[in-house]
Amino acid sequence: MREAAGLALYDVTVRHHGPFGAVTAVDGVSLEVPRGKTLGLVGESGSGKSTLARAVVGLATPCAGRITVGGREHGGRRPADRRGLGRQVQLVFQDPDTALDPRMTVRQSLAEAAGAFVRLDRRSRERRVGELLELVGLGTGIADRVPRQLSGGQRQRVAVARALAVDPAVLIADEITSALDVSVRAALLAMLRDLQRRLGFTMLFISHDLAAVRHVSDAVAVMYLGRIVETAPTENLLHGPWHPYTRTLLSAVPSLHAGPRPVGVPPIAGEVPDPASPPTGCRFHPRCPVGPHRRAGREVCAVRDPQEDAAGRPHHAACHFPWGPVRPAPAP
Ligand SMILES: Nc1ncnc2c1ncn2[C@@H]1O[C@H](COP(=O)(O)OP(=O)(O)O)[C@@H](O)[C@H]1O
Ligand SMILES: [Mg+2]
Repeated sequence: MREAAGLALYDVTVRHHGPFGAVTAVDGVSLEVPRGKTLGLVGESGSGKSTLARAVVGLATPCAGRITVGGREHGGRRPADRRGLGRQVQLVFQDPDTALDPRMTVRQSLAEAAGAFVRLDRRSRERRVGELLELVGLGTGIADRVPRQLSGGQRQRVAVARALAVDPAVLIADEITSALDVSVRAALLAMLRDLQRRLGFTMLFISHDLAAVRHVSDAVAVMYLGRIVETAPTENLLHGPWHPYTRTLLSAVPSLHAGPRPVGVPPIAGEVPDPASPPTGCRFHPRCPVGPHRRAGREVCAVRDPQEDAAGRPHHAACHFPWGPVRPAPAP
């Protein structure tokens, strides 16, 4: 029997209902993260990454699909099924300023998180706070400070410590390095990797920054307009992407390739379309550098959705004309 995935999503769809109607922010997403491994999730702003994260922790309710943690169904609709959610899966947010209560000291904040699901006496709570600070490489010297007395990097470490206080099976990091300087960012990423080795949690690492994702991820999933367009082991994705969208994303990150921009890959044009009315066929076709607007014979891209059943394959791309694998062109 295959070992149960640390985290798995099957055909998960999440809609936001706003004043101008419904937006399908996550549209039939399936992905699997083996236990103790990290999946990086990348994509431009607005592609649905945070909505997906919120669905996994139970802050948003999918209108379709299933989510499992350690092979067990996660987050049913009964209150009893949802009670364990926060404990199993923890989310560290993008913005270090809103993640922590500005009036609470680090000690209070960590003690509160540690005692959220189990009753702890004062001494065990104090010990747990010390352990957590040690885990994230901070001394107990900062325990009596409030968030504004900490640097951005320290705040994110405290936020990670808070998330780890309940010993979660899955940690979701949503843009946690975005607000940090490069050197601070590198240290935080190294810390996450080290923590994962020691504690064994499964991680979903979300970022629009491919360079950051590369450092921590075993595999990467690329999201575009609510869909996963390509998934591959990290090195395969970086060195041999199949989807034109992935190729344009990569070409925009100079540090990921040694020489100048790879020939034939123009920078990505335009904005992410409005998810309330996504393009027909392949959702990327209006911006695609090798799609119907650029090449004759590719009209199928505007007509037929390239979503495919890719379960169980380590590298797959939802594209009618992928760069890597040789496939016969589909009938129009
Ligand atoms: N609370 C909300 N209400 C309505 N629409 C939302 C809400 N949150 C996000 N959206 C919309 O859902 C889409 C995906 O957003 P989000 O999940 O934040 O993407 P990302 O994290 O990749 O930037 C966007 O079009 C965004 O405008
Ligand atoms: Mg986001």
